Amino acid sequence: MTSGKMENITNVMEYEAIAREKLPKMVYDFYASGAEDQWTLHENRSAFSRILFRPRILIDVSNIDTTTTILGFEISMPIMVAPTAMQKMAHPEGELATARATSAAGTIMTLSLSGTCSVEEVASTGPGTRFFQLYVIEDRNVVRQLVRRAEKAGFKAIAVTVDRPRLGRREADIKNRFTLPSYLTIKNFEGLDLATIDRTNDSGFATYVGYQFDRSLNWKDLKWLQTITKLPILVKGVLTAEDASLAVQEGIAGIIVSNHGARQLDYVPATIMALEEVVKAVQGRVPVFLDGGVRRGTDVFKALALGASGVFIGRPVVFALAADGEAGVRKVLQMLHDEFELTMALSGCRSIKEITRAHVMTPWDNQ
Ligand code: FNR
Repeated sequence: MTSGKMENITNVMEYEAIAREKLPKMVYDFYASGAEDQWTLHENRSAFSRILFRPRILIDVSNIDTTTTILGFEISMPIMVAPTAMQKMAHPEGELATARATSAAGTIMTLSLSGTCSVEEVASTGPGTRFFQLYVIEDRNVVRQLVRRAEKAGFKAIAVTVDRPRLGRREADIKNRFTLPSYLTIKNFEGLDLATIDRTNDSGFATYVGYQFDRSLNWKDLKWLQTITKLPILVKGVLTAEDASLAVQEGIAGIIVSNHGARQLDYVPATIMALEEVVKAVQGRVPVFLDGGVRRGTDVFKALALGASGVFIGRPVVFALAADGEAGVRKVLQMLHDEFELTMALSGCRSIKEITRAHVMTPWDNQ
């Protein structure tokens, strides 16, 4: 759709209302909702509003450079795409559209293990730097095969999600009896025994994915994962200094401060509140990233000022995909880029490395 409606969109949040109109309720709710009371869902957004700027003035900002290097890969901006499951429910092209849009923006896409397109299909969209998100499932042979396929398809890192030993309680999905529509499959599982999905079971998603992810997952498994691949491994779902220190000790290549878009344990802090504790524990030994509630260029700047090397966005991509396919995702990435660049200029920062802790103030400063 290239109607005036799309042209008039001026910020990434506006896609959500359009997606809500277009999508079946079951699908919209699956994308939008958080766990239980959704306290963390709201907090992921509102915590950003408690962090304020300390802009510097009279700095020549006629040239702003938003480029940065993540795990050795140069990208156009420190804004990347988080893994979100089942994107073909949003748009017939699903993850393929996201891959094309993300490459066009010159940044990194993370493909979910639970995608409706496989690693090979995403790779076939053309060149691009991509990460593969992995849930460790019980059958380690399957894990091995999945990692091998991601490597072969040219993916550059594995983001292993560790905050989902069990599925969080998303009440909308329970009410709607969420299931994957019958014309779609979880493509990465195709050819593996696990592709059989019980679509008739009325507890839907929880049942079909719940049994195959390993509840016993622990640090030893992360050690094992490092032995089966040379790709850098990022741990996705860290919220405390203790776990950040352990991850570094275990030789992990990077940490993603994430609460899974508030879909797992409710009443964990907003990720922007947990970020600095993690950054302090890591002491620069590995890069720290953040996802959760990033909707504005100002949010990106705040995360970087508090020590993140980059951020990932989840829901903005699926809502834009639902509203306007690849063009929507392109526009989301462009708008965030432009807002971020403007924030840098108005704060007196010409490059990513000029963004410092002194450019923001937080409620916990001087405490
Ligand atoms: C997710 N997320 C997620 N994470 C993951 O590791 N594997 C996955 O398959 C999914 N799937 C998924 C589906 C949907 C619909 C959402 C909203 C989220 C979590 C995701 O990677 C990321 O952590 C959050 O989405 C970031 O928060 P925002 O940007 O959505 O607020």
